[in-house]
Amino acid sequence: ALAIWHQLTRSEIPELSKASVLMRDRSRVETTIQAMHRAGPDALQVISDFDMTLSRFAHNGKRCPTTHNILDNGLLINDACKRRIRELLNIYYPVEIDAARTVEEKLPHMVEWWTSVHELLIQQKIRKDLLALAVEQSSAMLREGYKVFFDHLREQQVPLLIFSAGLGDILEEVIRQNHVFHPNIHVISNYMDFDQKGELQAFKGQLIHTFNKRDGALLHEAHFSKLKERPNVLLLGDSLGDLTMADGLAHTQHTLTIGYLNDQVEERKESYVNSYDIVLVKDETMDVPNAVLNYVT
Ligand code: TMP
Ligand code: MG
Repeated sequence: ALAIWHQLTRSEIPELSKASVLMRDRSRVETTIQAMHRAGPDALQVISDFDMTLSRFAHNGKRCPTTHNILDNGLLINDACKRRIRELLNIYYPVEIDAARTVEEKLPHMVEWWTSVHELLIQQKIRKDLLALAVEQSSAMLREGYKVFFDHLREQQVPLLIFSAGLGDILEEVIRQNHVFHPNIHVISNYMDFDQKGELQAFKGQLIHTFNKRDGALLHEAHFSKLKERPNVLLLGDSLGDLTMADGLAHTQHTLTIGYLNDQVEERKESYVNSYDIVLVKDETMDVPNAVLNYVT
């Protein structure tokens, strides 16, 4: 029976045979997909990172902004602040993606990066009423096929948790402007706290950065326990830190993880293939997640 399932998946999900798809253990992927298919949409939940997972890494050879970088706009912050935020990006992004350093080594640097940027944004008294315009003027884009992804999950009533170390207010606006902010979506992220004048005065709750999503997941235990009748998880991410996003779930049955490998491909290929079930190399589309979802639900 197993052999037949394998063949079935292969012809049913031709997207998995694309050259940009890497798998450490193809047969495990296929049996997981088959098991998820048998359990159906009522047993499934999707957990996804936002920046560089649901949003594009690049378009026509140009980098697309993360939610933080969308604020890099004269509307919201002055030139000195823009320069400083770019300097910080140039210092810390290479640390974030450095294949030669462990997560433990990276942790203090990530805390420093996020804390410095959030302090700068607070100093600029970012205005709430200008966020939507900044998103409109930015070159942020969701991955090709995003509409199929979001609409399909809504139709099947599959809950989608977007778990982001970016900025919650901004990512909501990106999704809203693309007309896919559906009621089945829940967001865990860094949210801005505005004063009565509508100016940024602080960030709410505990800081989320790339490598503490496990702590964030455990803090939001209430959200996960509402979904305990859905033991199957499709997890999407672009950082190895994203693999801990499902750590708030007490009982999982089948988990399939899909990782976008956007940058530093040769250096990171091995660790991504060892960590994610499916690795998508420089793929700006939602084709593979969509094909899996289409088969499973
Ligand atoms: P994510 O969890 O939604 O992917 O968001 C985190 C990303 O944001 C992470 O890859 C680094 C990025 N980032 C910036 O691009 N600029 C910044 O100033 C900060 C603090 C993070
Ligand atoms: Mg990301």
